Amino acid sequence: MSTEKTNSNQMWGGRFEEKPSDIMEQINASIDIDRRMWTQDIRGSLAHCEMLVKQGIISKDDGDAIMKGLKQIAGEIEAGEFVFRRDLEDIHMNIESRLKDIIGEPAGRLHTGRSRNDQVATDFRLWTREAIDNVIEQIEALQNVISKLCEKHAGDVMPGFTHLQAAQPITLAKHLDAYGCMLNRDKLRFMDCQSRLNKCPLGSAALAGTPYPIDRDFTAKKLGFDRPTLNTLDGVSARDFANEFLFCAAQTGLHLSRLAEEIILWATPQFGFIRLSDQWSTGSSIMPQKKNPDAAELVRGKTGRLNGNLIQMMTVLKGLPLAYNKDLQEDKEPVFDSYDAIMLCIQAMKGMLETATFNTDAMLSAAEDGYTTATALADWLVMKLDLPFREAHHVTGAIVKMAENKNCKLHELELTEMQAVHPGITDKIYDVLRVKK
Ligand code: ARG
Repeated sequence: MSTEKTNSNQMWGGRFEEKPSDIMEQINASIDIDRRMWTQDIRGSLAHCEMLVKQGIISKDDGDAIMKGLKQIAGEIEAGEFVFRRDLEDIHMNIESRLKDIIGEPAGRLHTGRSRNDQVATDFRLWTREAIDNVIEQIEALQNVISKLCEKHAGDVMPGFTHLQAAQPITLAKHLDAYGCMLNRDKLRFMDCQSRLNKCPLGSAALAGTPYPIDRDFTAKKLGFDRPTLNTLDGVSARDFANEFLFCAAQTGLHLSRLAEEIILWATPQFGFIRLSDQWSTGSSIMPQKKNPDAAELVRGKTGRLNGNLIQMMTVLKGLPLAYNKDLQEDKEPVFDSYDAIMLCIQAMKGMLETATFNTDAMLSAAEDGYTTATALADWLVMKLDLPFREAHHVTGAIVKMAENKNCKLHELELTEMQAVHPGITDKIYDVLRVKK
């Protein structure tokens, strides 16, 4: 970042005589954030320039010079040679100013029929569209890991919980598959968000459109959008796509946080259901016996920023009059931050799961210890002895209490003991008392 100061107000032509104050420059500059959209900005400019030439709005020579210059700038940025300047405010002005250094006067023609307002809205939609592709790719990779674990553990019994109390026996596969279902909805939500945002604001100009004979369909198509946005005021000021993206990320993070919480619980010696690999755990600097599930805790903790970013963006947008307002410049930071966070969370969860080992013996014995077949017993009484469910529930309660007093598992009770509670019970009852059955 250059610290050399120029008069950024010179960018606005003749009207300004004074330089902006230092603090004005600081509050106004977004380059530290929006430089991340440089490829999108250059692609948007290339499409716009090509359209201007095609429509005869600028000459082919100028267009060629602009496009060559833009490609050179892309090379400079990629090579890490480009000097981003805070006094040039944002990525758009940084690139345009460099274009002027390289090709001179024709650079000034690129901005014909365009404003930074439709430019930034276009860049940001392009960026978010691509971010969603990357998130979906990671979600699918995590889903694959979960599917493989489901296959592997299809027959491994564990207690299913309600109120975090052992409730009924289930398989580990079924438990993990629940997260697979959540992730599938998360993926569909991202896809839905992506399809809605894929409209091109270019041509909205500052807010009212532009008198030049531009071809909005051409630029939209060139940039892979479905079509241009319909209303120019909405085109420059709509950021509900950012809200939607932030919600999708927050919701995915929330699902991962639930899974993270279970991993944390399961990794305690008290549960002992899962062992995380060393790669995905940390030690304690003071307690040598500790192996901590930090990655899972951080996935759980990231929901703070994911939720915060959504609230931040919605708060910025609330009450904004049409059309563009500089408040909107606050839109990128939360979106970039949520993207980074959710990408990390998904990948960390994938890494943790694919290297973890599940202690299926501990799960089985927890299922047996927790009287989890009590509901199956009640259902048996209903189905085989035709008891009303409420009575079956009562009989079962008495049998569970008996096992509790004897400190044994349900299937360890004698038939005669159970028959004392209800004489109709036969030895077929043992079919449902063992969790494995
Ligand atoms: N950096 C600005 C943003 O992100 C670009 C648009 C500036 N437009 C304006 N009218 N000042 O919103």
